[in-house]
Amino acid sequence: MTAMPDRIGAPAVLILLGPPGAGKGTQARKLEQDFGLVQLSTGDLLRAAVAAGTAAGLQAKAVMEAGGLVSDEIVLAILKDRMAAPDTGRGVILDGFPRTAGQAGALDALLAGSGQRVTAAISMEVEDAPMIARVAGRYTCASCGEGYHDEFRQPAKAGVCDRCGGTAFRRRSDDNAETAGARLAAYHAQTAPLIAYYEGRGLLHRVDAMRGIDEVAQALSGIVSRVSG
Ligand code: AP5
Repeated sequence: MTAMPDRIGAPAVLILLGPPGAGKGTQARKLEQDFGLVQLSTGDLLRAAVAAGTAAGLQAKAVMEAGGLVSDEIVLAILKDRMAAPDTGRGVILDGFPRTAGQAGALDALLAGSGQRVTAAISMEVEDAPMIARVAGRYTCASCGEGYHDEFRQPAKAGVCDRCGGTAFRRRSDDNAETAGARLAAYHAQTAPLIAYYEGRGLLHRVDAMRGIDEVAQALSGIVSRVSG
């Protein structure tokens, strides 16, 4: 792996907002590599809790499989633990958090406790219908988590991860058309209102995320350079 350039002046707290398939995880991993930020995905943290069989994971499992939102209480407990780790001092990209008004308020309070605030919220704007295809075609490297897609992003060498050379890949159990539909509905009902919340505070940036992965990455990189410079 190449050395990470440290282009961030002060620790940044960046939020990626967008429905399932918008490319939050894909782009968060790029920003992590390019800016030395740490990607915090509540989806990944919850899946780890499910795999570990913790009490929180057991409660979250059925909700995630149905495409609903896990309770704020569980998500906040998991996020607070992760935010307390020393590596987050480099700045974080919140991927999939906050997702409700309650989570947004709790994040503000958590950051205020350490003299921080949200640096920017970036809304990844997409149309609903193509998101089902994006989610249904997705798979990741089982070793490093690098994301791929049957049609839109395949490894340079078939069956070998570009990032770590791993040869095992996996698909998420909630990546099917029916559950993706429920996840989209949850996004519109509970998460999309946060766009107005951050816009009202002058923190919102919008990116057309229907473009190709590299073009979206370029747009995001420009925003992150501006807000964190
Ligand atoms: P989570 O893991 O956060 O899933 P999600 O929000 O549904 O988002 P996805 O991971 O599906 O999509 P993404 O935007 O990251 O897209 P990706 O980059 O992979 O959450 C899962 C579940 O956990 C939730 O349903 C909920 O139950 C629970 N949960 C998590 N956080 C929670 C919270 N805060 N509160 C309550 N519950 C919570 O891209 C998708 C595919 O498209 C990839 O294959 C990629 O290669 C491809 N792709 C990406 N960009 C492009 C592009 N520009 N063009 C073409 N293809 C592209």
